[in-house]
Amino acid sequence: MKFLSRLNITFLTIMVATSIATKADAPQGKKIYQQHCVECHGAELQGAIGSSFIDHVWNYGDEDWAIGSNVKFGIANLEMPAWKDVLNDDEIKSVVTYIMDVDKSSSIKYPEIPTHVNSELHGFKLEILDDSLVEPWSIAFINENSALVTDKVGKLYQMQNGKINEEAIKGIPDNITNIGQSGLLDVMLDPDYAKNGWVYLSYSHELKKKKGEKTAGAMTRIIRGHIKDGKWVDQQVLFQAPEERYSATRHHYGSRIVFDKDGYLYFTVGDRGAKEQAQDVTWPNGKLHRIHKDGTIPKDNPFVNRKGAIPSIFSYGHRNQQGMSVHPITKEIWATEHGPMGGDELNHIRRAKNFGWPEITYGVNYDGSIITEFTAKDGMEQPAHYWTPSIAVSDIDFYNGNLFPKWKNNLFVTSLKYKDLRRLVLDGDKVVKEEIILKGVARLRGITVGPDGAIYVLANSPSLIIRLSPDM
Ligand code: HEC
Repeated sequence: MKFLSRLNITFLTIMVATSIATKADAPQGKKIYQQHCVECHGAELQGAIGSSFIDHVWNYGDEDWAIGSNVKFGIANLEMPAWKDVLNDDEIKSVVTYIMDVDKSSSIKYPEIPTHVNSELHGFKLEILDDSLVEPWSIAFINENSALVTDKVGKLYQMQNGKINEEAIKGIPDNITNIGQSGLLDVMLDPDYAKNGWVYLSYSHELKKKKGEKTAGAMTRIIRGHIKDGKWVDQQVLFQAPEERYSATRHHYGSRIVFDKDGYLYFTVGDRGAKEQAQDVTWPNGKLHRIHKDGTIPKDNPFVNRKGAIPSIFSYGHRNQQGMSVHPITKEIWATEHGPMGGDELNHIRRAKNFGWPEITYGVNYDGSIITEFTAKDGMEQPAHYWTPSIAVSDIDFYNGNLFPKWKNNLFVTSLKYKDLRRLVLDGDKVVKEEIILKGVARLRGITVGPDGAIYVLANSPSLIIRLSPDM
């Protein structure tokens, strides 16, 4: 027996040695891609959490040596891992050859957006309202005909009757970084907007570079202001982390904003790539926060009396929450968060609870190694639902309109990776049904039920604002 297994090992070694000797080998590169890169760059190389390899855009160098070095050493401060301990130089060459070949042969063709869809309970039609933005992230309706839309590159637009105004709103802060996942992210109106006109924004705030710093610190920041004659005015900063809590990374900002029935403002801050800090309440990252509309701290927030704690924290142990919505009946907060590889979560948020990241997770590291062997622990909350493999879960909204009566109170969930829209039916804290109602259209980033009862979906690659309404 021993002898035989020795033989096997020798045989394997010869096989591995032969594959190394082949140097850049695109078919082998494809295999490596499928094993290690699909998760973040997409099955058709169209992009997911990571960039697209079919759009001829190489942000970090377009020559083969630069691309190879980005794969080998990773891209500092973004979520692009270093592969030098997983892949040898020839394997890196192979995967680079493969992705460059695909890019060269691509004349980006996005799948056609269907005009009509029949789903289980409702047929609906899709209208593309706009395709002029770079990366639409969020939409907030002022009334049936008018809305505000953020473009991640740092612009805020008004949309009138389904058309984006040509001119962006002037006077938006200029200290927004938009590298990687950072940018101008959520927009939300005050529940009393008609009376007070307050508009709330979340964005990746970049500090001035300090002496000796290669990359300036950045962090999620929440502001509000008024819009007067196309200008952003009366700005107030509602949440800003202490400067020593800023980080040079450019991913995991969270940034969704909602108001509950009592007018509290909730917002999310992702772990900023420092997972252990999600468990530490002296850090604002990896948390869901609650403040008053004017930025002051509610007296009954759970950690206000703990020394050194960030007083706005409402729940903790989160990775990167980019979807949040208030349940139409219970009025409680639900939020989705991106898992690592595997383990995207839907959570029913409750005060002071620990949602477990990174002590418990259903996911693993992107190179396949283990983050923790635990999926459950005492004192830590289980997700109401999780997706393995990850769907790269983004925004969510409960349906509370009148156009689709059979969808009342269902939760709609967007996916960046599978480019689909899902309808979830909840029974208490359980998900009892999941239907994919739109499949493979575009990376779906944002979703909002409009005051007219239609569903508005924001897509990236291609960048679109899409309206779903009943098929009469
Ligand atoms: C954990 C997710 C993740 C995995 C896994 C991953 N990447 Fe990336 N990759 C990223 C992110 C994020 C970026 C930066 C995207 C941006 O700027 O928005 C990136 C950027 C890149 C770039 C630079 C693109 C450019 O525009 O210049 C290359 C090349 C690349 N990745 C190759 C790979 C290869 C090859 C693999 C598999 C061996 C891989 N990546 C696996 C997340 C990932």
